[in-house]
Amino acid sequence: MKKIVILISGRGSNMRSLLEAKLPCTIAAVISNKADAGGLEIAQQHGVKTAVVSHKDFSSREDFDAALAKEIDRHQPDLVVLAGFMRILTAGFVNHYGGRLINIHPSLLPAYTGVNTHERALADGVRIHGCTVHFVTAELDHGPIIVQAAVSVLPSDTVQSLSARVLQQEHHIFPQAIRWLCSKKLWLEKDGRVAGLHTSPIATPLISPALD
Ligand code: GRF
Repeated sequence: MKKIVILISGRGSNMRSLLEAKLPCTIAAVISNKADAGGLEIAQQHGVKTAVVSHKDFSSREDFDAALAKEIDRHQPDLVVLAGFMRILTAGFVNHYGGRLINIHPSLLPAYTGVNTHERALADGVRIHGCTVHFVTAELDHGPIIVQAAVSVLPSDTVQSLSARVLQQEHHIFPQAIRWLCSKKLWLEKDGRVAGLHTSPIATPLISPALD
């Protein structure tokens, strides 16, 4: 069975969705860069090993990433999963895990890379927003896209209501992406293409606001 290691920085709701999804892989460890990340306790309640590698203990990004990689590599994972891991990773780290590092991002990439995605989507007045699971490359929030989910933006939406609706979809698509990868239904080709995608057409397109 394939092994995964999950990296978190905070509350860990995406990590929880993975722990509860009965994935066809072993979750070898959850590692946080913050000792007070709420997700650590959830992982422990699920009987998953946890570790903290605090970025504050290192004077450079390179040193932190090297220590983090050392902790991850103790478990020899097939896949490293960024589930709300809020550190920018060095190219060296990303290359070390080339093709086996994935991230969930709260926007329909390539729109709204970086932080405050929901605020920016609301400010722009977009009618459709969403989330993306993608392979990580050295460029922040870029990299081959595995799966996306879209939600309509409502006139009454606040950052809270919109982020909650997007988060619900994150909890659907993230376990699915990992299931595909761990059961070899989907993989990254050497040329950077995601292969194995079984895209059947969706009968109902998402139009927002709905037409009369
Ligand atoms: C999620 O919205 C994820 O997409 C982003 O950070 C948030 C983490 O939330 N990268 P949680 O810790 O998984 O609840």
